[in-house]
Amino acid sequence: MSIVNVNVAGGSYPIHIAPNILQQLATSVPENASSIVLITNSTVMPLYGDVAKKSLAVCAKPLHVLELHDGEAFKTQETLNTIYTFLLSKKVDRKAIIVALGGGVIGDISGYAAATYMRGVRFIQVPTTLLAQVDSSVGGKTAVNHPLGKNMIGAFYQPIAVDIDVNVLKTLPPREISAGLAEVIKYGMILDADFFTWCEENVEKLKALDAEAISYAIHRSCELKAYVVGEDEKETGLRAILNLGHTFGHAIETALGYGEWLHGEAVGCGMVQAAELSAQTLGLPREDVERIRNLVKAIGCPTQAPNLGTNKWIELMQIDKKAEGGKIKFVLLPKIGEAIVRTVPSEDLGIALSKTVKA
Ligand code: NAD
Ligand code: GLY
Repeated sequence: MSIVNVNVAGGSYPIHIAPNILQQLATSVPENASSIVLITNSTVMPLYGDVAKKSLAVCAKPLHVLELHDGEAFKTQETLNTIYTFLLSKKVDRKAIIVALGGGVIGDISGYAAATYMRGVRFIQVPTTLLAQVDSSVGGKTAVNHPLGKNMIGAFYQPIAVDIDVNVLKTLPPREISAGLAEVIKYGMILDADFFTWCEENVEKLKALDAEAISYAIHRSCELKAYVVGEDEKETGLRAILNLGHTFGHAIETALGYGEWLHGEAVGCGMVQAAELSAQTLGLPREDVERIRNLVKAIGCPTQAPNLGTNKWIELMQIDKKAEGGKIKFVLLPKIGEAIVRTVPSEDLGIALSKTVKA
């Protein structure tokens, strides 16, 4: 097992990474837990529900299981209310532990429920998609969507542990692997040029879920995320660099409707767009832009964005949480392995869009 520690004011906790950790979930449940609430969805339940229940039964505490509908469309206030109603009807108290078993949708909504139920109960993230393992389960961002914007209602609320079982990735559809790999290579682009090169060299192994390669990629991604979150838990500065490609990506997701492109696919394409913008504004060498485009393509994500028209692009990007007073801020790369956040001249944005949207 490998362990990465996250140290933040909102709570320090371990990330455990190992095959078959699903069979050892009890070790992350504190002795003083009054009960355990396992929250999952209708896709993950038949795959991993039994093993998770069996491993949590070792704690010999009341265990309640809530199965939600699957999908981003259910990451809503309504589903949140379903969770609260379940918790209240089972008389779940403040000493309970919520265990979120699933991808980023389950992790985000269960985490927000944990943050708000009785003003906060402890929760454990058991992420089962690659994207959730390398990104959403770590760092304490929890949220639901609002009809006017994704993840607009939420809280920073840290889990007490993250348990990552690399074996569960074997049942993920290939598109979901590609989407998760987009977040993996993101860490190389913003913080670690050597890791970016390692990803280039190991891309086929990563796509094939080679045990050693994927475990290392998850470990390194979690280490880099833990570093950023440790420096800036509430995103007052540095943490914003984790949003490389997200300003473009969120615009794609909103324009096409949630679910048409996967979040990670939109981020992958958005990172190519951010690289073109970086070339325009900061002089990121063309060779590096092409390395980024080639790696995004190699992991299986789209590299050409939909043609929404410049005005629509700008309108959608202004909804981004980084925007201040209507001014859009972008994460840009002076070079691979280094990132900054800033506004850009509108001509540069126009050129970057023209180079990255479909004709
Ligand atoms: P997801 O949760 O929708 O999971 C993708 C699909 O895979 C779902 O159908 C799910 O049921 C299924 N699935 C999960 N595990 C599986 C497994 N092991 N085998 C087979 N199928 C499995 O999507 P996601 O990509 O994990 O997460 C996306 C969400 O995460 C978005 O809502 C996004 O806003 C959020 N997010 C949050 C953060 C954060 O910091 N909190 C960061 C990035 C993304
Ligand atoms: N996924 C971006 C963040 O956690 O800040």
